[in-house]
Amino acid sequence: MVQLKKAFKTFTNVLIIASFILQVYIHTYPSLTPDVCSWDNKKETKLSDKYKDIFKVNYPPENQILHLLKLDTWKTYFKDVLLTKKDNSHNKYINPRFLLFGDPQIKGAWRNTPLLTRLDIFGNDHYLGHIFKTMFKRLTPDFGIVMGDLFSSQWIPDDEFYNRTERYINRVFSGAIPSSLDRIRDLKKKFVNPDDGINYKTDWITFSDGKIRTLRKEEGFPPFKFDYGSDVYRWNENDPFLFINMTGNHDIGYSGDMTFQHLSRFTDMFGADNFVLHYNEGRGNSYRIVNLNTMLLEGPGLENVLMDITWEFLYQLFEEQFDGTTILLQHIPMFKEKGFCKDGPHFSFYPEVYEKEPYKSNLLKSQNHLSLETSNKLLNLLFHNGKPGIILTGHDHYGCDVVYNRYMTKMKDHPNGLAESYWTASKTPDSKNENSEFTGDIVKEITVRSMMGDFAGAVGLLEMNYNKDYETFDFNYKECVFAVQHIWWAANIVTIITVLLLSIRILFI
Ligand SMILES: *[C@@H]1O[C@H](CO)[C@@H](O)[C@H](O)[C@H]1NC(C)=O
Ligand SMILES: *[C@@H]1O[C@H](CO)[C@@H](O)[C@H](O)[C@H]1NC(C)=O
Repeated sequence: MVQLKKAFKTFTNVLIIASFILQVYIHTYPSLTPDVCSWDNKKETKLSDKYKDIFKVNYPPENQILHLLKLDTWKTYFKDVLLTKKDNSHNKYINPRFLLFGDPQIKGAWRNTPLLTRLDIFGNDHYLGHIFKTMFKRLTPDFGIVMGDLFSSQWIPDDEFYNRTERYINRVFSGAIPSSLDRIRDLKKKFVNPDDGINYKTDWITFSDGKIRTLRKEEGFPPFKFDYGSDVYRWNENDPFLFINMTGNHDIGYSGDMTFQHLSRFTDMFGADNFVLHYNEGRGNSYRIVNLNTMLLEGPGLENVLMDITWEFLYQLFEEQFDGTTILLQHIPMFKEKGFCKDGPHFSFYPEVYEKEPYKSNLLKSQNHLSLETSNKLLNLLFHNGKPGIILTGHDHYGCDVVYNRYMTKMKDHPNGLAESYWTASKTPDSKNENSEFTGDIVKEITVRSMMGDFAGAVGLLEMNYNKDYETFDFNYKECVFAVQHIWWAANIVTIITVLLLSIRILFI
């Protein structure tokens, strides 16, 4: 008996140490890679070469343990991570900072979902929440952007869509958008029959009617409002920063699936799918953030009205002849040849004869990229003023970065004797092209790695630094990873067991 007691004591001692180490690890994150998890905090930059050093991208080191043994890592940890809060010199007008969250894809439980799966879903919400809270507190960004695919499926009823939104606000991004809970709760019980046992239903009929009649320019229907204002740094006074949700294929479907109902409930919960915001207008450091619903750019789609509205938005952006820097947010990445990123070009369509849902025959079923044609069109519409811009995307969970370079075909090669503008992807800015003239326009595309546990809970840090010499911004991107979900689970389970055994030890032994 004495020996058993002794063994029990030793065992609990080991557990105490283990849970302590694990808890320190998950709470001092990003302890292993502080250099890619903190702001550089440069003030204005001055560069000699306009095309060389504009885009900086940093990924976590391959071997994190080896990285930990370096003195520099620790210096960065103390200087940039632990002491970062004391830095009050950050100026959001000169170097705005963005925290980017790739495809969280939160799942849901059904009536017959086993308990263990339910626990996994619950834990996953809190795992994502831990990432958000830790990063948000340390880094206090000016903007927080979720890159689409907020939920794991578009094939869910409205009521479940509502329930996931509550989880999204309360557990995953807790504290980011405190004001929105009241707003969505106002929509509860509004269009439902009290006997149905359903809490929320979207009023998609009014939604679609409004869209169709506005597009037709009917009387009493004012034009679409895409401009969401100037120098907006929060939607609501109580919000800590500006939070933007993008649409993803898992939230509203690809264009061949998407009904008015899908988009109506998304906008009920998450606001507009297409909008633009302007900052520092009339100054050298002016920029705009364009949130684009890429699910409604190409088809054949189910609701052409919705696609027409998205194109209308793009033409309006073109007509504004903007002379600043453009930050384009789009869930689906631009076209690029195979080999640049994990996902290569891919399109699939519903078959001609589709018995299950005949109305979908031949419609767009899924896509990895936008088509070459649409990508060129989009780039030409938004990035034509000579200022380097940036595109932030999701969809490819592995993350990626490329540069798009703009060329003009030489007139003599063109059948009509006209020059044509087109863009090609490369790893770094590329001004050389045999048949065409480089225009000097370059745009970086960054695909943000997913924040899901299987991708080690990544978060993107983007810092823009104003470059006075060229009246442009330099872009500094870092990919900060946490750890696979199992480590977070282990830390919490070991802690719970430790507390239980310790209570037994104190009470009975
Ligand atoms: C959503 O949550 C409410 C309240 O917890 C519950 O009654 C309802 O069944 C849930 N809806 C679905 C589709 O699970
Ligand atoms: C994103 O979603 C939250 C939660 O519903 C909402 O409060 C916020 O306003 C949304 N952001 C935008 C840009 O609509």
